[in-house]
Amino acid sequence: MNTAIIYYSKHGTTLKVAQMISSKLSTENTLIDLKINTTPEIEKYDSIIIGCSVYAGTSSKKMKSFCNNNIEYLKSKPIGLYVCGMEKEEIKQREELERAYPLELLEKAKSKQFLGGEFILENMNFFERMIVKKIAKTDKSILAINHENIDKFVEEFIL
Ligand SMILES: Cc1cc2nc3c(=O)[nH]c(=O)nc-3n(C[C@H](O)[C@H](O)[C@H](O)COP(=O)(O)O)c2cc1C
Repeated sequence: MNTAIIYYSKHGTTLKVAQMISSKLSTENTLIDLKINTTPEIEKYDSIIIGCSVYAGTSSKKMKSFCNNNIEYLKSKPIGLYVCGMEKEEIKQREELERAYPLELLEKAKSKQFLGGEFILENMNFFERMIVKKIAKTDKSILAINHENIDKFVEEFIL
């Protein structure tokens, strides 16, 4: 069994979460950065996990295109879908997850979760820092990866 974990990460959190998921799976895993490899050979994998992050309520266009371009193949495989973000309200977290991926994939996914995120100020550009300081009302980095949800995500995925 081998699993591809395909992620799109701006500042590294979605990658970090991909690594955490990978360390909890007993399959042979390959992490694929969609920024570098825009057309991964997904046919090589028995199962596929897809992760991206949310900015201003929306996820990466490249990840959406990747999902739409490969939708029939992805639907034929065991898949897991996750998003990283700092939204605190559960209803909004679910909405962000549902906006990030096509409905057909969400319906088919073995596991789908909002896995939390991080605000790491030193990784952000000036404008991002300004926005975060305003919305999160902090001038310190915040680490809020949801480890409990990662465990749930993995449990559901391997069932
Ligand atoms: C400018 C900015 C806007 C953001 N907007 C959202 C948002 O609308 N919803 C959300 O859940 N998280 C939001 N976030 C939090 C990011 O999703 C979070 O920092 C995530 O960990 C980033 O993951 P990445 O480094 O893999 O891109 C925002 C972060 C920044 C810097």
